[in-house]
Amino acid sequence: MKKIALITGITGQDGSYLSELLLSKDYKVHGIVRRHSFKGTERIQHLIDDAKYKDKFFLHYGDVTDSCSLSNIIREIQPDEVYNLAAQSHVGVSFKVPEYTAEATGVSTIKLLEAIRQNKVDTKFYQASTSELFGGIPSTAPQSEKTPFYPKSPYGAAKLYSYWITVNYRESYGMFACNGILFNHESPRRGEDFVTRKISLAVANIIKGNQEKLSLGNLNAKRDWGFAGDYVEGMYLMLQQDNPDDYVLATNETHTVRDFVNAAFDEVGIKIKWRGEGINEKGYDSKTDKLLIDVNPKFFRPAEVEFLLGDPSKAEKILNWKRKVNFEELVKMMVRADLNQLKKIFEVT
Ligand code: NAP
Ligand code: GDD
Repeated sequence: MKKIALITGITGQDGSYLSELLLSKDYKVHGIVRRHSFKGTERIQHLIDDAKYKDKFFLHYGDVTDSCSLSNIIREIQPDEVYNLAAQSHVGVSFKVPEYTAEATGVSTIKLLEAIRQNKVDTKFYQASTSELFGGIPSTAPQSEKTPFYPKSPYGAAKLYSYWITVNYRESYGMFACNGILFNHESPRRGEDFVTRKISLAVANIIKGNQEKLSLGNLNAKRDWGFAGDYVEGMYLMLQQDNPDDYVLATNETHTVRDFVNAAFDEVGIKIKWRGEGINEKGYDSKTDKLLIDVNPKFFRPAEVEFLLGDPSKAEKILNWKRKVNFEELVKMMVRADLNQLKKIFEVT
């Protein structure tokens, strides 16, 4: 019998890679999609259109803030595995829409867990937890499953609830429920308002003459950046174990936003020379002295997570998981993809 998976957040970056992975393992994949006024399925359109997935890939209208839709879908499809990836996932935006973030990123998890429990569906459950849980304890590094949490945003606080309610349902009801505590993972499918994609897209646009310069917020923030394709394999592996548990997925390397900018421009043969400090820091093309990067305080957050560095040794040991793509390869992949994408647009317009 083919296994049946349900993915919330299937239209997102991770949902699209996870769908591809599970389809390659011959799963039937069901996803929950929100109604959009215009499209919204770009990242999975190739799967929707592929005739070989006609009887394997299914989408259902629903919303993780709507317990009726969750309960109906769970009852109807009786999944073997549920991957809860849906969230208002932007940390900066969570300060602007804190209450909605609490609903979509926090309270939604109990709605899904209760839909499973009340419908008596025997399924394994993956919760998309995050390194944002560690937030404000920079002295503790690298961060592991044992590091205390200290979220620093409405997003982090909402994810804290989801983390603990997942542990609670495992302990209270014996549910096979796991938290993947994932550090930042990126790809050419990353949303354009996250810093890595904003940078790779800007590099491509500057090279094509569509954009003058790139404005960023905190250049000193350090992140442990990996490739999303590697991380969805870890999610899958967590649900293939004999026992449910929580795991960190990370690269164990950390880089500043400035490092990412340097590496991305390097990819197109531009070396950045930095001058000034704080909000006056600027990046110039070292050959032409053209201004390419400046700092705009509008991209600062009311509270910032300055430093993330993950210790993935538990996942490496127990899941036999290891990231394959390193920082330099990730930057190259993203810049190349954006250059190619823009090339295509120019060829047809
Ligand atoms: P993403 O690209 O922003 O995707 C989020 C997904 O959630 C989208 O499919 C979105 O649908 C859906 N969604 C949002 N609100 C919803 C609602 N009310 N009802 C139903 N669906 C809703 O995020 P991602 O990078 O793939 O991340 C996946 C998950 O992992 C998220 O929970 C995120 O918080 C978490 N996480 C991500 C990272 C990372 O570095 N990427 C690290 C740790 C944890 P629309 O397409 O309709 O907007
Ligand atoms: N988005 C953005 N835009 N971030 C900027 C900018 C900018 O112009 N300039 C500097 N930054 C800094 C942010 O302040 C942050 O310190 C860092 O770049 C990374 O920001 P994001 O790419 O927005 O990601 P994030 O780390 O806040 O959150 C992502 O990773 C989490 C895991 O640690 C998201 O994917 C979350 O959903 C995820 O949980």
